[in-house]
This record gives sequence, C-alpha cells and structure tokens, in this order.
Amino acid sequence: MNKKITLALIVSFLFNIAVKADEGMWLPMLLGQQVYDDMVKKGLKLTKEQLYDINKPSVKDAIIIFGGGCTGEIVSNEGLIFTNHHCGYEAIAKASSVEHNYLRDGFWAKTKAEEIPSENLSVQFLVKIEDVTDKVNETTKGLSEADYLKKLPDILTEMGKKLTEGTTYEGRVASFFKGNQFLLFTYERFKDVRLVGTPSESIGKFGGDTDNWEWPRHTGDFSVFRVYTTKDGKAGDYAADNIPMKPKYFLPVSTKGVKDGDYAMIYGYPGGTNRYETSFGVKLKTEIENPSLVNLRDVRLKLMKEQMVKDAGVKLQLASSYARIANYWKFFDGESKQLIKYDVYGQKQKAEGDFLNWAKDKPEYLSIFQDYRKAYEAWTPYAKWRMYLNEGILGSPVIKYAADMGSLDKVLSKKDVTPEEIKKAVDAVKKSHDVFMKDENLASDKNILAAVTNMFYNDIQQDQQPKAFFTWLKNKYGDLNNVHSFDAYAADVFATSLLVNNDAWNNFVAKPDTAVLHKDLAFFTANAFTAFYNANYAKFSTDFQTKNAWLGKTYLKGVMEEKGTKKMYPDANFTMRVSFGEVKPYHPRDGLDLASVCTMKGIMEKYKPGDYEFDLPKNFVDIARKRDFGPYIDKVHNDLVVSFITTNDITGGNSGSPVMNGKGELIGLAFDGNYEALSHKIAFDKDLNRTICVDVRYVLFVIDKVGGATNIIKELKIPQ
Ligand code: ARG
Repeated sequence: MNKKITLALIVSFLFNIAVKADEGMWLPMLLGQQVYDDMVKKGLKLTKEQLYDINKPSVKDAIIIFGGGCTGEIVSNEGLIFTNHHCGYEAIAKASSVEHNYLRDGFWAKTKAEEIPSENLSVQFLVKIEDVTDKVNETTKGLSEADYLKKLPDILTEMGKKLTEGTTYEGRVASFFKGNQFLLFTYERFKDVRLVGTPSESIGKFGGDTDNWEWPRHTGDFSVFRVYTTKDGKAGDYAADNIPMKPKYFLPVSTKGVKDGDYAMIYGYPGGTNRYETSFGVKLKTEIENPSLVNLRDVRLKLMKEQMVKDAGVKLQLASSYARIANYWKFFDGESKQLIKYDVYGQKQKAEGDFLNWAKDKPEYLSIFQDYRKAYEAWTPYAKWRMYLNEGILGSPVIKYAADMGSLDKVLSKKDVTPEEIKKAVDAVKKSHDVFMKDENLASDKNILAAVTNMFYNDIQQDQQPKAFFTWLKNKYGDLNNVHSFDAYAADVFATSLLVNNDAWNNFVAKPDTAVLHKDLAFFTANAFTAFYNANYAKFSTDFQTKNAWLGKTYLKGVMEEKGTKKMYPDANFTMRVSFGEVKPYHPRDGLDLASVCTMKGIMEKYKPGDYEFDLPKNFVDIARKRDFGPYIDKVHNDLVVSFITTNDITGGNSGSPVMNGKGELIGLAFDGNYEALSHKIAFDKDLNRTICVDVRYVLFVIDKVGGATNIIKELKIPQ
C-alpha cells in the first residue's frame, strides 16, 4: 500500500467519525437549528432560507403529497409533476382499457390537450407548520387515559378544521414523539391532476416483485402528471378550461450525473416509522404478526395471479391491489428476517437497560418495562386471531365488503328508523357497491375465500375458534379436514350472495331487509367472525392499544429528557421531512460488494422476452442495442446509468421523492429501500441502509428516446 492511499484512508476514517451516519428524517422548519451545519459539511450549497421559508419561495414549495400516500415534485413552471410509476399506478390503470392499455403500452401526451384527467387524484402543497402542543394539552386536560386515546383523533381533526376555518386550506394536526408534541400542518389541495406520460409497465415496473425491495435494480419507476388550477390560479375541481399551475417554485434538473460521495438530499413524506419500538414489540412482530400476514398474503397473491395471467382485463382490474398487497407482503417478510439477523430484539433490550440505568432516581420511569411486559402478555394470545381476521377472512374482498354492510344493517335494525335515514344508508351502499364490483374478480375471490377459511380453521387454536360457524360449515359441506368442503362452501357463497349477483342485489336495495341480509352467506360469514371477535377479543385489543400508547408517551418523554431534543428527529408520520446523505456502495455480506449505480447493460442482462416481470418493449430493446442514449449517457461508465443508491433515511410514503444534489437540482427519484435494511422502520442500520433512486438521466432518456415526448423535455430547466 503506498503512502498516498494510507493518508487518504486515514483522512476518510477521521471524516467518518466526525460526520454521523445519515440517520434522520428532519422537520424542514427545524433544519436551520438542528442539522444545517452537518448538511453543509456534506456538500449542501443552499442557504437555510432556500431550504425552507414560509414567506419566500423555497425548495419546500416544489414538494407535494401525491394522491393518498406518495410524494411528487414540481419540475416546470407549468405545474409538471414527476413521481414514481408505482405512485401513478392506480391512475394509469384506471385510464387504461383493454383497447387503450396504457399500463401495458405506456402513454405520452404530445400536447396539453391529450393529457388525461385522473378522477379522485389530488395533490397537496404544504403552506406552513405551527406548534399547537399547548392547545391540544388544554383541550384534553382531565381526560382519562382511555378517553384521551378514544377522543384524540377527533379532537385533532376538529382542531385542524377550526384553525383553518374561513380559508381555502386544509389543516391537519399530527402527533409527534408519541403524543409529546403536536404540530398543525396547513395544506392547499388541488384536484385537477392529469396524466402526462408514463412508460410501459415493463419499464416502470421492470423486475416486478422479484426485484422489489432489492438492489441491484433496473426499474424505470417514474411517471409524469400535471396540476391544473382555475383561470385565476386557484385550487379547484377538474374543469376542461382550467390552466396549468404557475407554481411558486420548481426544481431544476441536473444531467451531470452522480459519483460516490456526492451529497444527496431528499424531501418528502415518509409514512411511518417506530424507531422507539420496545423489545416486546419486536418480539410480537417477528414471532406472530409478520409471519401470519406473510402466510396469508402469500396464498391470496398466488390466487390473484392465477387469474391475472389468464386475461388482460383481469390483469388490469387487479393490478393495483395486487401490487399493494405484494409490496408489503415482501416488506414484512424481509423485515422479520432482518430484525432477527441483526438481533434488533437484543439491541432494544440493551437500550431499555441503558434507559433504566439513566432513570435510576426517576420513579416515574422505573416500572415502565414491567408495565410494557404486562400489556404485551395480556394481548399476545389474541394477536394471531386479529391478523387472521384482517389479513385472512377480510382478505377476501367480498367478505370485507359484507363486513362494511354492517353499517346498513345497523340502520335497518334501528327502532323508529325514518325512511330518510334508510334512503341515505341505501344510497351510500349503492355507491360503494359500484366501486366494489368494479374491482371484484369473482374467480380469484372464490378461491381466496375457500383458502382463508381453511387456513383459519387449521392455524387458529381450537379453543379460540368461532365454533358455531365451523359447526355449521361442517354440517352443510362435510369434513373440515377435506379442502373440498371449503371449496363447496365458497362456491355456494358466490352462487347465492346478493353482494355478487346483480338481480338479487337490485331486489335487495329496492326493498332492503335485515332478515334477507342476515341469511346472505357472505354477510353471515363476515358477521360470524367480526361479531365473535368483538364479543371476545376486541376489548383486549383496545386495552392493549391504550396501555401501549400511554407507556409510549411516557417512555419517549423520558428519552427526550435523557438525550435532549437538539438532535432528535421524530418518527415518520406522513408529514414533510428532509433527509441527507451521500451516494455510496455497500457491503451486504461477507464476500459481496455492491456498486452504487446500475446501468443499461444490466437491463439487457435481465431482459427475458415474454416474461411477466422482465420483458421489455420492442422499441426499447432496439434503442438499447443501438446505444442511442443521446446526451443522457454517462461518460465514466460509457453507458446509460439507470439507478443509484444513497445513504438517505427514508421509508414508504417517500416514494416519488426528489433526490437533489448540493445545489438543490434534481438528480433522481427515490423509489425503494434495499432488502438488507428492511428492518429500517424499527432500527436504522448505519452501514446497510440504502435508498434506491432512478437516475433522472434515465427518466429523461425514456421520455425522450423511448416515448418521443420532447415536449416534456423542453419544459424542464436543465442548467448547463
Ligand atoms: N417497494 C416500493 C415502495 O414501497 C414499491 C415498489 C412497487 N413495485 C412492485 N414491484 N410492487 O416504495
């Protein structure tokens, strides 16, 4: 080893000690006080005010909540939005038909007139953040523990509404540090959002569920939308003559590329983490909750896929819910594996020991883990039951829908119910039934129902079974050790239930009658399980949740005292956060090093014509073979860089988030996390955690060369 290298190693060693690992999802308005200096040290070139300002345009104004659970960013002065393909997925599937199959073939609007309105899709901009902890504490003063928890959600909703009354904004109060702090987030919501472009699914979801949550990765996970306003620039519903938004701020795009060590900053909406989960919680997760969920989803997914591969219409119909179920099926499986592999249980026990040690002379905290233990012991015997209800029995869409009919049943069974009340309730189910039937695939649901009832019977301990139901099933359909009995039962449900048979449904809503509903096999099944759960086990769940929440609040209060809040970040809760880190390779296990970028070469190596997950469009393959990469080629790799990884701390909800360089220019879109760090919701791993990003140059390549949508490229601001 020569001297130069040794010196470089020493310098980088010192540097690593000085700069902490890149853990943290920071609140944007506190960046200036908390981590701004660390960001600058890592390579940030923007001022505090450029990062976040409530008076002047700043980066935060380009960041949006996209739909119900994703992030997006504004990239032009005409309201153009970039987000992930998997975030636009539902809108793309809905815009598609078997004849115009944009999910399969892609879609590129060459003019604004061709853009496709997306019903029920909205985006939200953050206006400001305010601390309302005192107000919440005042309002909840004197409530008992159980009442506090029961009423808190409504209190927060009400408060959010009240504090933004008379404005066109929406206010939402969110809880931080397990109820030790409350912040009001004010948003402006825009409801006219149109699809501008999407690559074919084979590009946007290349690698499918096989590659999901994995690195190396070759997915072009992006789609393009546009937000419209009324003519005078206001938020409004869809209208044909609305105009493209004039945003306060939009992100410029950098095509200069990334290299190891480059600064990377991500703004977005991480959905949820639980970094102060206790050892008890980790154990419940790894031993009961995750394995149950994974088993049940495994079966449901197989039965859905079986129908999807047979028919393009069914594929479109089920695509979005399949992707949603599969995404967290793999996540929870990986989460358990990593929690066990890194002994997070042991790590938590150690942290709890340290905490107790700190709390030696603080009586308030001394019994906390004994109390946790009691709470977990009381709930654990029923935890599997609840999973098998939610992910099993209610994992059959028709049974889930039947359970939702409970609200109509209640109205109909009420004494002195008025005709108006009945009409209102019936109108509501008529609407929800239309939605349900659009997504309902009878063939897969029938098989799912047979499978999940069978699994329930075999996997849940005998003395916890709803005996009446299974006795009925046995008497009517035969031996419960024979799967055919469950098949016959499910076939009967689908042959007779008014929920899936049009004439019977129309007769029912014309003359709604609880007696008819209670005889319905789907409703009867839903009721048999939910009523049994409510009568026997719901109480344990409520008690557990109440205790757990109170203990959490106390524990966190202690941790905040112990560690001081100067450099503490709150758990993710789908409010805007900023994370910073760097482009960096990693070493997942002995003998294996993974580079920080993937290229077109790898796409072509994975390409499998005709495959469900690894096929590619013909024009894409032609362009790739010709190496027609235009200005998007990476000179160092002499190839097109498709994706890269960074050390940023993000989680689900951050999907679609902009990845920016030190100047705040867009270098990629975050779309996933790596398998080796799937324990990240509970414990951030400073060596293994990576965020997987699609390189913006690949995004532009697909738009330009594959989609021919130069109109989109022209809208962007690309500093030379
Ligand atoms: N794992 C990604 C996330 O949660 C979603 C990827 C969707 N792709 C898929 N193959 N299901 O952000």
